Amino acid sequence: MTFPLDKFGSLPTPFFYYDMERLQATLEEANKQAERLGYHIHYALKANSNDKILRTMSRMGYGADCVSGNEIKKAAESGFPARSIFFAGVGKSDSEIITALEHNIGCFNCESIPEMEVINALAGRYGKKAHVAIRINPNVDAHTHHYITTGLEENKFGINAWELEEVITRLHHLSNLELKGLHFHIGSQITDLEIFKGLCLRVNEFQEWFYDHKIIADMINVGGGWGVDYQNPDRQYVPDFEAFFCLFKEFLHLRPKQSLHFELGRALVAQSGNLISRVLYVKNGVNTRFVILDAGMTELLRPALYQSFHKIENLSSSGEAEKYHVVGPVCESSDTFGKAVLLPPTRRGDLIAIRSTGAYGEVMSSQYNLRDKAPAYYSDDL
Ligand code: LLP
Repeated sequence: MTFPLDKFGSLPTPFFYYDMERLQATLEEANKQAERLGYHIHYALKANSNDKILRTMSRMGYGADCVSGNEIKKAAESGFPARSIFFAGVGKSDSEIITALEHNIGCFNCESIPEMEVINALAGRYGKKAHVAIRINPNVDAHTHHYITTGLEENKFGINAWELEEVITRLHHLSNLELKGLHFHIGSQITDLEIFKGLCLRVNEFQEWFYDHKIIADMINVGGGWGVDYQNPDRQYVPDFEAFFCLFKEFLHLRPKQSLHFELGRALVAQSGNLISRVLYVKNGVNTRFVILDAGMTELLRPALYQSFHKIENLSSSGEAEKYHVVGPVCESSDTFGKAVLLPPTRRGDLIAIRSTGAYGEVMSSQYNLRDKAPAYYSDDL
């Protein structure tokens, strides 16, 4: 990827830089592959909720997957049609449910019987009928970092198989709810298609069970989770959406008229974002040298929280690579972006790019240590 270094020179660091051409190309490809098979993508706003990115998504016909009342408001303001907005989350508050009802969203993805009862009561109070999907915990191991695995029985998410009988019995009495879908999501940053195949086979089993109970849901929603290549962000920066969607075509058996929905986040935005930072100091440690950046875990929490890898590049220097520990300025030892990172000889003032930060980067930033919020710049605005 080429960065506009002439433009960067005058900007205070750290900042997020979004390559809008990359974003556009990624969104077009995902759309093309989904449309070919008649599938629907609801963008998971939690991955990145920048106004400009959201407006690009809604213009291109994406639906929205929201996990808070504020995300619902933001999706509506950004032009996502209300009926394309889905509301997920294990702990929806009353006021968030009311926001969703007021916006006439397309579907509540419900994670427990008590939650269904509350949505039913609030929908009754507001004279509405709420469309719901049951989020089923399929007990499929995503083999990803344990903090971003969601589809195992030990996780807090979804309704377990043995509770489904009770759910459908209760639903008969919850007259303000209309069952529209079955929802699944097994985890994030999954790059092995075999895992999604496992999900498809489980969904087929659940479909049989519901069919035996005379229920055919209009919508099957298989969540998100398709991963990206953090090691080589430029090798194939548009994830292989064709392979991903074709797998579902091959292994997931839809009933006639059933629609298939996806809630992709990371795969759509990760490779378009970069965190740009400057070297403050190069400091000698025991058997190593630290490159201390002006960006830290406050701008990019993923390495500290999940020990995740992000490629680090020195944009100002060239020459034979040396090993450095690349760290942030925050008073926490976990504020480390990478150990034994190979970089050309690095000096104070060099510009550093931390790659693949378009998803779960800026949205997870904080102002710990009362640090300023890093701004965002876009390739087509600079
Ligand atoms: N649907 C549901 C119900 C989800 O919980 C998530 C992500 C998605 C869709 C979108 O998943 P994606 O396509 O982006 O993998 N902060 C972590 C990731 C947390 C993902 C949470 N749920 C990280 O930085 O890796």
